[in-house]
Amino acid sequence: MVEVFAVASGKGGTGKTTSTLALGMALAERYDVTVVDADTGMANLLFHAGLADADTTLHDLLLGDSNARVADATYERFGMRVVPCGTDLGDFRAADPTRLRDVVATLAADTDVLLLDSPATLASRRAVLPIVLADRVVLVTQPTVPALSDALKVQEYAASYDTGVAGVVYNRVRDEAGVERVAAQSERYFDGPVLGSVPEDDAARHARRAGEPLLAHAPDSPAAAAYRRIADELAVEPGSEAAVADRFRRAVVPDEV
Ligand SMILES: Nc1ncnc2c1ncn2[C@@H]1O[C@H](COP(=O)(O)OP(=O)(O)OP(=O)(O)O)[C@@H](O)[C@H]1O
Ligand SMILES: [Mg+2]
Repeated sequence: MVEVFAVASGKGGTGKTTSTLALGMALAERYDVTVVDADTGMANLLFHAGLADADTTLHDLLLGDSNARVADATYERFGMRVVPCGTDLGDFRAADPTRLRDVVATLAADTDVLLLDSPATLASRRAVLPIVLADRVVLVTQPTVPALSDALKVQEYAASYDTGVAGVVYNRVRDEAGVERVAAQSERYFDGPVLGSVPEDDAARHARRAGEPLLAHAPDSPAAAAYRRIADELAVEPGSEAAVADRFRRAVVPDEV
């Protein structure tokens, strides 16, 4: 049984990659978790996960002339399976984004929770693909009007591909009382619950610099504690692997969005 989540935001730098790894590590206490850097144009999960030197990455799996197998690009790290993506622009251009579908289908056959770290913008077919493939999105946003309106656009895209909303995570929160007011309002607009809020916390930046996920680098930090609470709120609704794999294989990759 597996559920696939796209971690998305509609804006850059909201904390998608930080959140993907933090939720992955927290969920790994209860589930078999795989995280994938599906931000194939601006990959950076490898830098957050100590995999900057990885020999084989998702890019190799998306290249037509490569013999790499999914297992070759899958690394056991921090209690999860991690599939990093390379940062070479030539590889990005040569990559066939539709192959992501087959990679995700292969990974989904052998895990409980699959988290797809998604690109910031949804302006191209390859950028929207993780949302097309996911069962539901986790929206990571700041509690400001422009960030929320972008997150609502992601929800709209997701709905148009029959992808639901698992919930909203407010990240980099400086004013807890303010976010509670926003959360009360935003529950009316989002199709999923507010899962929780993560404070602005230097530990997140330090973890990134150290090349470790937040929950490994600073497990006792306020931000790490917040992510563990959020993971507890996230109700995983696994479907059968066969159904999920079949859905991926048949997923229509949008021409333009
Ligand atoms: N709660 C937090 N407190 C302080 N800094 C944070 C927090 N969450 C993330 N950051 C920092 O913000 C920066 C952006 O975070 P991250 O890379 O996770 O965002 P992203 O949404 O994946 O960005 P991109 O759109 O570029 O992929 C990083 O330097 C990260 O360490
Ligand atoms: Mg990122």
